[in-house]
Amino acid sequence: MKPTIAHLGIAVTDLDAAASFYRKVLHVPCRGPEEADGARILHLDFGEAEVELLAPMTPDSPIGRFLAKRGPGIHHICYRVADLDASIAACREHGYTLVDEVPRAGANGHRIAFLHPKATHGTLIELTE
Ligand code: CO
Repeated sequence: MKPTIAHLGIAVTDLDAAASFYRKVLHVPCRGPEEADGARILHLDFGEAEVELLAPMTPDSPIGRFLAKRGPGIHHICYRVADLDASIAACREHGYTLVDEVPRAGANGHRIAFLHPKATHGTLIELTE
């Protein structure tokens, strides 16, 4: 299986206001919100890939801190791989620093791991399977 784009995470201040474009213009199926990592998350279904709108529940959550520093916009991209443990091992082997040394449960309960953005030229990358 070749890797695919699982989702794009977009940081927003107002979930409902941000979702309005997807509902009213694109008519994309929408699921949620659910809560994970201190964020309320709306899942927008684009077929193989999703867009996740992420709104902070508190200012000191990861999304809250991102918004304070960078403002609203693309927060991370998530790639789906065949074998998450093998990809994590490859990160270690080739010196790509991980935020999550061990896979953890992300949104939807899928196993995920984040790489450190300094290791990936400024883009926060999440891996899932
Ligand atoms: Co994500």
